Amino acid sequence: MEMQGSNIPVPSSAISAASDEIIEFHEVDIVTPSQKLLARKLSCSVVQGKSLLLTCPNGTGKSYVFRVLRDLWPAFSRRVTKPSEGMFHVPQSPYTSLGTLRDQIIYPLSREEAEMKILSLYKASNRSSAPELLDDHLKTVLVNVRLVYLLEREGWDSTQNWEDVLSLGEQQRLGMVTRLFFHHPKFGILDECTNATSVDGEEHLYRLAANMGITVITSSQVSVRVIPANCVKGLLIDGEGNWELCEIQH
Ligand SMILES: Nc1ncnc2c1ncn2[C@@H]1O[C@H](COP(=O)(O)OP(=O)(O)OP(=O)(O)O)[C@@H](O)[C@H]1O
Ligand SMILES: [Mg+2]
Repeated sequence: MEMQGSNIPVPSSAISAASDEIIEFHEVDIVTPSQKLLARKLSCSVVQGKSLLLTCPNGTGKSYVFRVLRDLWPAFSRRVTKPSEGMFHVPQSPYTSLGTLRDQIIYPLSREEAEMKILSLYKASNRSSAPELLDDHLKTVLVNVRLVYLLEREGWDSTQNWEDVLSLGEQQRLGMVTRLFFHHPKFGILDECTNATSVDGEEHLYRLAANMGITVITSSQVSVRVIPANCVKGLLIDGEGNWELCEIQH
């Protein structure tokens, strides 16, 4: 670790490396902008199929760990290894995009980009079948997250101020979980994004993610509501620099 002046860590030059199969923190200091060390020399790895649950008290650094993974905040010292693609981030606050019901799920892709993705997913070459294929696929996603009633109520092309129309739980499931399932990444980085969803709904979503082969890094307050289906490791951070890894038995 490079040190500047007193004990304040500064970003190391080579902080990130790429690997398709693993996300790994190697002796990474997680530090706030006001230089509070939240986790000292954090080392932990997540391989495909083995999800991780990050637990720490309110305001002690969960979102910073996720920000480091998202390159929104530098890692300090040593390095973070992660795939160059195949990671999908779902932040803590739900966000709805301007546009139709369809746009909410395919965000940040345009309709045209989403249609191209679906053609390649179904190995279809007939460009004219793309709109129907896309909507059928999106309907399956809505059925899976138990939101198909929104389609029946609003239709695909309805444009609303979704933030006003949808409940918080619906915004989370529509704006976050459906996007995760549509983009179908190898790794889903989920920052407490289902806390307004019912416990059985949350269990259902994690089971779906596991069945789809999506490995998740998810975060929770200290009183854990739901452990993701394929989660084998827990990471506890106390926000004072200390952390601990434990095995999770289901
Ligand atoms: N710009 C900043 N400058 C200084 N400290 C900050 C800044 N942004 C956040 N912090 C502090 O860093 C700490 C960790 O924040 P973080 O958002 O990671 O917590 P969290 O564990 O995700 O909290 P929650 O459970 O509320 O989601 C908090 O004490 C927060 O106030
Ligand atoms: Mg947070």
